[in-house]
Amino acid sequence: MKALVWHGKNDVRLDTVPDPKIEEPRDAIVKVTSTAICGSDLHLYDGYIPAMESGDILGHEFMGEVVEVGAANKKLRVGDRVIVPFNICCGDCFFCGKGLWSLCERTNRDAKKAETMFGHSTGGLFGYSHLTGHYPGGQAEYVRVPFADVAPAKVPDGLTDEQVLFLTDIFPTGYQAADFAEIENGDTVAVWGCGPVGQFCIRSAQMLGAGHVVAIDRVPERLAMAGAAGAETINFEKEDVYDRLNQITKGRGPDRCIDAVGMEAHGHGSWDAVADKALAATGLGTDRIHALRDCLKNVRAGGTVSVAGVYGGYLNMVPFGPAFQKGVTIRMGQCNVLNYLDTLMQAIVGGKIDPSFVITHRCSLSDGPEMYDTFKKKHDGCIKVVMKPGT
Ligand SMILES: NC(=O)c1ccc[n+]([C@@H]2O[C@H](COP(=O)([O-])OP(=O)(O)OC[C@H]3O[C@@H](n4cnc5c(N)ncnc54)[C@H](O)[C@@H]3O)[C@@H](O)[C@H]2O)c1
Ligand SMILES: [Zn+2]
Ligand SMILES: [Zn+2]
Repeated sequence: MKALVWHGKNDVRLDTVPDPKIEEPRDAIVKVTSTAICGSDLHLYDGYIPAMESGDILGHEFMGEVVEVGAANKKLRVGDRVIVPFNICCGDCFFCGKGLWSLCERTNRDAKKAETMFGHSTGGLFGYSHLTGHYPGGQAEYVRVPFADVAPAKVPDGLTDEQVLFLTDIFPTGYQAADFAEIENGDTVAVWGCGPVGQFCIRSAQMLGAGHVVAIDRVPERLAMAGAAGAETINFEKEDVYDRLNQITKGRGPDRCIDAVGMEAHGHGSWDAVADKALAATGLGTDRIHALRDCLKNVRAGGTVSVAGVYGGYLNMVPFGPAFQKGVTIRMGQCNVLNYLDTLMQAIVGGKIDPSFVITHRCSLSDGPEMYDTFKKKHDGCIKVVMKPGT
Protein backbone atom coordinates (compact mmCIF):
# COMPACT_ATOMS: atom_id res chain seq x y z
CA MET A 1 0.00 0.00 0.00
CA LYS A 2 0.97 3.67 -0.19
CA ALA A 3 1.68 5.68 2.96
CA LEU A 4 3.30 8.95 4.03
CA VAL A 5 6.57 8.05 5.69
CA TRP A 6 8.93 10.11 7.86
CA HIS A 7 12.53 9.97 6.69
CA GLY A 8 14.03 12.83 8.70
CA LYS A 9 13.59 16.52 9.35
CA ASN A 10 11.52 18.15 6.57
CA ASP A 11 11.52 14.84 4.68
CA VAL A 12 8.17 13.09 4.23
CA ARG A 13 7.76 10.72 1.29
CA LEU A 14 5.01 8.68 -0.32
CA ASP A 15 6.37 5.15 -0.02
CA THR A 16 5.11 1.70 -0.88
CA VAL A 17 5.02 -0.29 2.35
CA PRO A 18 3.61 -3.70 3.39
CA ASP A 19 -0.16 -3.87 3.98
CA PRO A 20 -1.08 -4.01 7.68
CA LYS A 21 -2.38 -7.27 9.10
CA ILE A 22 -4.51 -8.27 12.08
CA GLU A 23 -2.03 -8.98 14.90
CA GLU A 24 -4.29 -9.22 17.95
CA PRO A 25 -7.87 -10.53 18.25
CA ARG A 26 -9.34 -7.10 19.13
CA ASP A 27 -7.75 -5.38 16.08
CA ALA A 28 -9.43 -4.08 12.97
CA ILE A 29 -8.02 -3.03 9.62
CA VAL A 30 -9.45 0.23 8.31
CA LYS A 31 -9.33 1.35 4.70
CA VAL A 32 -8.70 5.08 5.05
CA THR A 33 -11.10 7.35 3.17
CA SER A 34 -9.98 10.69 4.72
CA THR A 35 -6.91 11.70 6.72
CA ALA A 36 -5.62 15.09 7.84
CA ILE A 37 -2.29 16.69 8.67
CA CYS A 38 -2.15 18.08 12.22
CA GLY A 39 -0.02 20.79 13.84
CA SER A 40 1.32 17.92 15.97
CA ASP A 41 2.67 16.32 12.77
CA LEU A 42 4.63 19.51 12.16
CA HIS A 43 6.50 18.94 15.43
CA LEU A 44 7.66 15.60 13.93
CA TYR A 45 8.37 17.16 10.54
CA ASP A 46 10.46 19.88 12.18
CA GLY A 47 12.32 17.40 14.40
CA TYR A 48 11.05 18.83 17.71
CA ILE A 49 9.63 15.52 18.99
CA PRO A 50 12.46 13.02 19.51
CA ALA A 51 12.44 9.27 18.87
CA MET A 52 11.16 9.24 15.30
CA GLU A 53 12.84 6.68 13.07
CA SER A 54 13.25 6.75 9.33
CA GLY A 55 10.46 4.58 7.89
CA ASP A 56 7.77 5.52 10.46
CA ILE A 57 4.30 5.95 8.93
CA LEU A 58 2.71 9.27 9.95
CA GLY A 59 -0.85 10.29 10.72
CA HIS A 60 -3.25 10.26 13.66
CA GLU A 61 -6.38 11.95 12.25
CA PHE A 62 -8.12 9.44 10.02
CA MET A 63 -11.35 7.60 9.30
CA GLY A 64 -12.56 5.00 6.88
CA GLU A 65 -14.19 1.66 6.27
CA VAL A 66 -13.55 -1.47 8.30
CA VAL A 67 -12.27 -4.18 5.95
CA GLU A 68 -11.17 -6.83 8.46
CA VAL A 69 -11.88 -7.53 12.14
CA GLY A 70 -10.11 -9.74 14.67
CA ALA A 71 -11.95 -12.72 16.15
CA ALA A 72 -12.50 -11.12 19.58
CA ASN A 73 -13.77 -7.78 18.32
CA LYS A 74 -17.50 -7.71 19.07
CA LYS A 75 -18.03 -4.02 18.31
CA LEU A 76 -17.09 -3.65 14.65
CA ARG A 77 -18.07 -5.41 11.45
CA VAL A 78 -16.65 -5.40 7.97
CA GLY A 79 -18.25 -2.51 6.10
CA ASP A 80 -18.69 -0.23 9.16
CA ARG A 81 -17.75 3.40 8.55
CA VAL A 82 -15.74 4.65 11.53
CA ILE A 83 -13.76 7.55 12.87
CA VAL A 84 -10.65 6.48 14.79
CA PRO A 85 -9.59 8.69 17.75
CA PHE A 86 -5.84 9.30 17.96
CA ASN A 87 -5.57 7.76 21.47
CA ILE A 88 -5.08 3.99 21.50
CA CYS A 89 -6.74 2.70 24.66
CA CYS A 90 -7.60 -0.68 26.15
CA GLY A 91 -10.82 0.38 27.85
CA ASP A 92 -10.29 -1.41 31.15
CA CYS A 93 -7.04 -0.35 32.85
CA PHE A 94 -6.69 2.03 35.83
CA PHE A 95 -6.38 5.09 33.56
CA CYS A 96 -9.09 4.15 31.05
CA GLY A 97 -11.38 3.62 34.06
CA LYS A 98 -10.79 7.25 35.07
CA GLY A 99 -11.42 8.63 31.57
CA LEU A 100 -7.71 9.33 31.17
CA TRP A 101 -7.73 7.63 27.79
CA SER A 102 -4.51 9.24 26.56
CA LEU A 103 -2.68 7.66 29.51
CA CYS A 104 -3.82 4.05 29.02
CA GLU A 105 -1.23 1.85 30.70
CA ARG A 106 -1.51 -1.09 28.30
CA THR A 107 -1.03 0.45 24.88
CA ASN A 108 2.38 2.13 24.88
CA ARG A 109 4.86 -0.38 23.46
CA ASP A 110 7.63 2.13 24.28
CA ALA A 111 6.64 2.47 27.94
CA LYS A 112 10.21 2.04 29.20
CA LYS A 113 11.50 4.90 27.02
CA ALA A 114 8.53 7.06 28.02
CA GLU A 115 9.24 6.38 31.71
CA THR A 116 12.83 7.49 31.30
CA MET A 117 11.77 10.74 29.71
CA PHE A 118 8.53 11.51 31.54
CA GLY A 119 8.91 9.75 34.89
CA HIS A 120 5.90 7.57 34.09
CA SER A 121 4.62 6.27 30.81
CA THR A 122 1.70 7.62 28.81
CA GLY A 123 -0.57 5.74 26.40
CA GLY A 124 -0.14 4.72 22.79
CA LEU A 125 -0.83 7.14 19.94
CA PHE A 126 -1.01 6.54 16.20
CA GLY A 127 1.91 7.74 14.10
CA TYR A 128 3.67 9.54 16.91
CA SER A 129 7.22 8.30 17.50
CA HIS A 130 9.00 5.63 19.50
CA LEU A 131 7.91 7.30 22.74
CA THR A 132 4.21 6.51 22.27
CA GLY A 133 4.22 3.00 20.88
CA HIS A 134 5.58 3.46 17.32
CA TYR A 135 2.19 2.55 15.86
CA PRO A 136 2.02 3.01 12.08
CA GLY A 137 -0.26 6.00 11.42
CA GLY A 138 -3.26 6.70 9.25
CA GLN A 139 -1.79 8.84 6.48
CA ALA A 140 -1.95 5.66 4.49
CA GLU A 141 -4.31 3.56 2.40
CA TYR A 142 -4.85 1.09 5.25
CA VAL A 143 -4.13 1.10 8.95
CA ARG A 144 -4.14 -1.48 11.71
CA VAL A 145 -6.25 -0.27 14.64
CA PRO A 146 -5.32 -2.01 17.91
CA PHE A 147 -8.02 -2.32 20.61
CA ALA A 148 -10.46 -1.39 17.86
CA ASP A 149 -13.41 -2.39 20.06
CA VAL A 150 -12.80 0.63 22.35
CA ALA A 151 -12.18 4.03 20.72
CA PRO A 152 -13.41 3.87 17.10
CA ALA A 153 -16.95 5.17 16.64
CA LYS A 154 -19.42 4.39 13.89
CA VAL A 155 -20.51 7.37 11.81
CA PRO A 156 -24.26 8.05 11.81
CA ASP A 157 -25.87 7.87 8.36
CA GLY A 158 -26.05 11.08 6.41
CA LEU A 159 -22.83 12.69 7.65
CA THR A 160 -19.91 13.30 5.30
CA ASP A 161 -16.28 12.44 6.07
CA GLU A 162 -15.46 16.13 6.32
CA GLN A 163 -18.14 16.73 8.95
CA VAL A 164 -16.85 14.03 11.32
CA LEU A 165 -13.13 13.57 10.55
CA PHE A 166 -12.00 16.12 13.14
CA LEU A 167 -13.74 14.21 15.94
CA THR A 168 -10.58 12.06 15.83
CA ASP A 169 -8.53 14.89 17.34
CA ILE A 170 -8.77 18.66 16.83
CA PHE A 171 -12.44 19.24 17.68
CA PRO A 172 -12.33 17.32 21.00
CA THR A 173 -8.87 18.81 21.63
CA GLY A 174 -10.27 22.32 21.35
CA TYR A 175 -13.25 21.30 23.47
CA GLN A 176 -11.08 19.74 26.17
CA ALA A 177 -8.98 22.91 26.26
CA ALA A 178 -12.14 24.96 26.84
CA ASP A 179 -13.38 22.42 29.41
CA PHE A 180 -10.02 22.50 31.24
CA ALA A 181 -10.17 26.31 31.22
CA GLU A 182 -13.09 26.09 33.69
CA ILE A 183 -15.03 28.83 31.91
CA GLU A 184 -17.75 30.56 33.90
CA ASN A 185 -20.65 32.27 32.16
CA GLY A 186 -19.59 35.56 30.66
CA ASP A 187 -15.83 35.03 31.10
CA THR A 188 -13.27 36.61 28.83
CA VAL A 189 -11.24 33.83 27.23
CA ALA A 190 -8.02 34.57 25.34
CA VAL A 191 -6.81 31.94 22.86
CA TRP A 192 -3.20 31.96 21.65
CA GLY A 193 -2.92 30.38 18.19
CA CYS A 194 -5.56 30.42 15.44
CA GLY A 195 -4.46 27.22 13.74
CA PRO A 196 -7.01 24.41 13.43
CA VAL A 197 -6.83 23.64 17.16
CA GLY A 198 -7.21 27.31 18.12
CA GLN A 199 -10.27 27.56 15.85
CA PHE A 200 -11.96 24.75 17.77
CA CYS A 201 -10.87 26.24 21.12
CA ILE A 202 -12.62 29.48 20.17
CA ARG A 203 -15.88 27.80 19.15
CA SER A 204 -15.78 25.43 22.14
CA ALA A 205 -15.21 28.33 24.56
CA GLN A 206 -18.34 29.95 23.12
CA MET A 207 -20.28 26.66 23.46
CA LEU A 208 -19.21 26.51 27.13
CA GLY A 209 -20.37 30.00 28.05
CA ALA A 210 -17.55 32.46 27.30
CA GLY A 211 -18.89 36.02 27.13
CA HIS A 212 -15.99 37.30 25.07
CA VAL A 213 -13.26 35.46 23.16
CA VAL A 214 -10.02 37.12 22.10
CA ALA A 215 -7.89 35.31 19.51
CA ILE A 216 -4.16 35.90 19.01
CA ASP A 217 -2.01 34.98 15.99
CA ARG A 218 -0.09 36.71 13.22
CA VAL A 219 -1.48 34.96 10.12
CA PRO A 220 -4.19 37.18 8.58
CA GLU A 221 -6.43 34.44 7.16
CA ARG A 222 -6.34 32.54 10.45
CA LEU A 223 -7.26 35.69 12.36
CA ALA A 224 -10.05 36.29 9.85
CA MET A 225 -11.42 32.77 10.46
CA ALA A 226 -11.36 33.48 14.21
CA GLY A 227 -13.10 36.80 13.61
CA ALA A 228 -15.81 35.03 11.58
CA ALA A 229 -16.65 33.03 14.73
CA GLY A 230 -17.15 36.27 16.64
CA ALA A 231 -13.76 36.49 18.34
CA GLU A 232 -11.96 39.81 18.78
CA THR A 233 -8.53 39.41 17.18
CA ILE A 234 -4.99 40.55 18.00
CA ASN A 235 -2.11 40.29 15.52
CA PHE A 236 0.88 39.88 17.84
CA GLU A 237 3.23 41.25 15.21
CA LYS A 238 1.30 44.49 14.97
CA GLU A 239 0.17 45.13 18.53
CA ASP A 240 1.37 44.56 22.06
CA VAL A 241 -0.69 41.64 23.34
CA TYR A 242 -0.41 42.59 27.03
CA ASP A 243 -1.51 46.18 26.46
CA ARG A 244 -4.44 45.21 24.28
CA LEU A 245 -5.64 42.47 26.64
CA ASN A 246 -5.46 44.92 29.53
CA GLN A 247 -7.46 47.41 27.58
CA ILE A 248 -10.11 44.75 26.80
CA THR A 249 -10.29 43.51 30.41
CA LYS A 250 -9.97 46.91 32.13
CA GLY A 251 -6.55 46.04 33.49
CA ARG A 252 -7.51 42.77 35.15
CA GLY A 253 -6.38 40.29 32.48
CA PRO A 254 -8.39 37.52 30.77
CA ASP A 255 -10.19 35.12 33.13
CA ARG A 256 -9.04 32.12 31.10
CA CYS A 257 -6.07 31.77 28.76
CA ILE A 258 -5.73 28.88 26.32
CA ASP A 259 -2.42 27.97 24.69
CA ALA A 260 -3.20 26.45 21.28
CA VAL A 261 0.31 27.06 19.95
CA GLY A 262 2.64 24.59 21.65
CA MET A 263 6.35 23.98 21.35
CA GLU A 264 7.16 25.95 18.20
CA ALA A 265 5.88 29.40 19.16
CA HIS A 266 7.11 32.53 17.46
CA GLY A 267 7.73 35.75 19.33
CA HIS A 268 7.85 39.08 17.64
CA GLY A 269 11.44 40.00 18.36
CA SER A 270 11.02 39.38 22.09
CA TRP A 271 14.26 38.44 23.87
CA ASP A 272 12.87 35.24 25.33
CA ALA A 273 11.76 33.97 21.91
CA VAL A 274 15.19 34.77 20.45
CA ALA A 275 16.80 32.81 23.30
CA ASP A 276 14.43 29.84 22.78
CA LYS A 277 15.24 29.75 19.09
CA ALA A 278 18.99 29.81 19.69
CA LEU A 279 18.79 27.09 22.35
CA ALA A 280 16.58 24.87 20.18
CA ALA A 281 18.82 25.36 17.15
CA THR A 282 21.93 24.35 19.09
CA GLY A 283 20.26 21.39 20.78
CA LEU A 284 20.72 22.99 24.22
CA GLY A 285 17.03 23.65 24.60
CA THR A 286 13.88 21.87 23.57
CA ASP A 287 10.61 23.74 23.21
CA ARG A 288 10.00 27.34 22.06
CA ILE A 289 7.50 28.52 24.66
CA HIS A 290 6.73 32.18 24.08
CA ALA A 291 2.96 31.61 23.90
CA LEU A 292 2.93 29.67 27.18
CA ARG A 293 4.88 32.47 28.88
CA ASP A 294 2.38 34.93 27.48
CA CYS A 295 -0.56 32.94 28.86
CA LEU A 296 0.95 32.75 32.35
CA LYS A 297 1.81 36.44 32.35
CA ASN A 298 -1.50 37.70 31.00
CA VAL A 299 -3.99 35.57 32.90
CA ARG A 300 -5.82 37.42 35.66
CA ALA A 301 -5.04 36.58 39.27
CA GLY A 302 -6.94 33.45 40.24
CA GLY A 303 -7.55 32.58 36.58
CA THR A 304 -6.90 29.44 34.57
CA VAL A 305 -4.34 28.56 31.93
CA SER A 306 -5.33 25.60 29.78
CA VAL A 307 -2.65 24.14 27.54
CA ALA A 308 -3.72 22.30 24.38
CA GLY A 309 -0.49 22.98 22.49
CA VAL A 310 1.96 20.09 22.67
CA TYR A 311 5.18 20.34 24.72
CA GLY A 312 7.86 17.68 24.72
CA GLY A 313 10.87 18.57 26.81
CA TYR A 314 12.21 20.49 29.79
CA LEU A 315 11.27 24.13 29.44
CA ASN A 316 13.39 27.22 30.09
CA MET A 317 12.27 30.38 31.83
CA VAL A 318 8.74 29.31 32.64
CA PRO A 319 7.19 32.18 34.66
CA PHE A 320 6.28 29.81 37.45
CA GLY A 321 6.70 32.50 40.13
CA PRO A 322 4.10 34.79 38.56
CA ALA A 323 1.75 31.82 38.13
CA PHE A 324 2.23 30.84 41.77
CA GLN A 325 1.81 34.37 43.09
CA LYS A 326 -1.40 34.83 41.12
CA GLY A 327 -2.78 31.47 42.25
CA VAL A 328 -3.24 30.30 38.69
CA THR A 329 -4.76 26.91 37.87
CA ILE A 330 -2.91 25.16 35.05
CA ARG A 331 -4.37 22.20 33.19
CA MET A 332 -2.97 20.43 30.17
CA GLY A 333 -2.51 17.21 28.30
CA GLN A 334 -3.15 15.17 25.23
CA CYS A 335 -6.85 15.09 24.55
CA ASN A 336 -8.91 12.28 26.05
CA VAL A 337 -11.04 12.11 22.93
CA LEU A 338 -13.58 9.58 24.22
CA ASN A 339 -14.79 11.92 26.98
CA TYR A 340 -16.20 14.34 24.40
CA LEU A 341 -17.06 12.21 21.40
CA ASP A 342 -20.79 11.72 22.09
CA THR A 343 -21.43 15.37 22.97
CA LEU A 344 -19.63 16.64 19.90
CA MET A 345 -21.12 14.05 17.54
CA GLN A 346 -24.57 15.19 18.76
CA ALA A 347 -23.61 18.83 18.14
CA ILE A 348 -22.75 17.91 14.55
CA VAL A 349 -25.84 15.75 14.02
CA GLY A 350 -27.99 18.53 15.48
CA GLY A 351 -26.48 21.08 13.08
CA LYS A 352 -24.97 23.24 15.86
CA ILE A 353 -21.55 23.11 14.23
CA ASP A 354 -20.04 21.86 10.97
CA PRO A 355 -16.31 21.28 11.62
CA SER A 356 -15.51 21.25 7.90
CA PHE A 357 -15.32 25.07 7.99
CA VAL A 358 -11.61 24.75 8.84
CA ILE A 359 -10.60 22.83 5.66
CA THR A 360 -8.74 24.89 3.08
CA HIS A 361 -6.96 22.13 1.10
CA ARG A 362 -8.30 18.83 -0.25
CA CYS A 363 -5.96 16.49 -2.11
CA SER A 364 -4.81 12.92 -2.62
CA LEU A 365 -2.28 11.09 -0.46
CA SER A 366 0.37 11.52 -3.15
CA ASP A 367 0.18 15.30 -2.63
CA GLY A 368 1.07 14.75 1.04
CA PRO A 369 4.81 15.54 0.91
CA GLU A 370 4.10 18.87 -0.79
CA MET A 371 1.20 19.60 1.56
CA TYR A 372 3.38 19.14 4.65
CA ASP A 373 5.54 21.95 3.30
CA THR A 374 2.55 24.15 2.38
CA PHE A 375 0.93 23.65 5.82
CA LYS A 376 4.19 24.28 7.67
CA LYS A 377 4.92 27.48 5.74
CA LYS A 378 1.25 28.53 5.83
CA HIS A 379 1.46 29.19 2.11
CA ASP A 380 -1.57 29.49 -0.11
CA GLY A 381 -3.83 30.37 2.83
CA CYS A 382 -3.39 26.85 4.17
CA ILE A 383 -5.18 26.17 7.46
CA LYS A 384 -6.18 22.48 7.29
CA VAL A 385 -5.31 19.79 4.76
CA VAL A 386 -7.49 16.72 4.18
CA MET A 387 -6.15 13.92 2.00
CA LYS A 388 -8.28 11.23 0.39
CA PRO A 389 -6.27 8.07 -0.23
CA GLY A 390 -7.32 6.26 -3.37
CA THR A 391 -8.20 9.44 -5.29
N1 LIG B 1 -3.45 18.37 23.31
C1 LIG B 1 -3.72 17.62 22.25
O1 LIG B 1 -4.25 16.52 22.37
C2 LIG B 1 -3.42 18.15 20.90
C3 LIG B 1 -4.09 17.66 19.78
C4 LIG B 1 -3.85 18.23 18.54
C5 LIG B 1 -2.93 19.26 18.42
N2 LIG B 1 -2.27 19.69 19.52
C6 LIG B 1 -1.29 20.77 19.47
O2 LIG B 1 -1.97 22.02 19.34
C7 LIG B 1 -1.06 22.97 18.75
C8 LIG B 1 -1.74 23.68 17.60
O3 LIG B 1 -2.09 22.77 16.57
P1 LIG B 1 -2.57 23.31 15.16
O4 LIG B 1 -2.93 22.13 14.34
O5 LIG B 1 -3.56 24.38 15.33
O6 LIG B 1 -1.15 23.89 14.62
P2 LIG B 1 -0.69 25.10 13.70
O7 LIG B 1 0.78 25.00 13.66
O8 LIG B 1 -1.44 25.08 12.41
O9 LIG B 1 -1.13 26.40 14.48
C9 LIG B 1 -0.37 27.07 15.43
C10 LIG B 1 -0.68 28.55 15.30
O10 LIG B 1 -0.02 29.25 16.36
C11 LIG B 1 0.40 30.51 15.84
N3 LIG B 1 1.43 31.09 16.71
C12 LIG B 1 2.77 30.86 16.73
N4 LIG B 1 3.36 31.58 17.71
C13 LIG B 1 2.38 32.27 18.33
C14 LIG B 1 2.35 33.19 19.42
N5 LIG B 1 3.47 33.53 20.06
N6 LIG B 1 1.16 33.72 19.80
C15 LIG B 1 0.00 33.38 19.15
N7 LIG B 1 -0.03 32.52 18.10
C16 LIG B 1 1.13 31.97 17.70
C17 LIG B 1 0.86 30.17 14.44
O11 LIG B 1 0.92 31.32 13.60
C18 LIG B 1 -0.21 29.16 14.00
O12 LIG B 1 -1.29 29.77 13.34
C19 LIG B 1 0.18 22.15 18.33
O13 LIG B 1 1.16 22.26 19.34
C20 LIG B 1 -0.34 20.74 18.29
O14 LIG B 1 0.68 19.81 18.48
C21 LIG B 1 -2.52 19.17 20.74
ZN1 LIG C 1 -3.43 15.92 15.87
ZN1 LIG D 1 -6.26 1.32 29.24
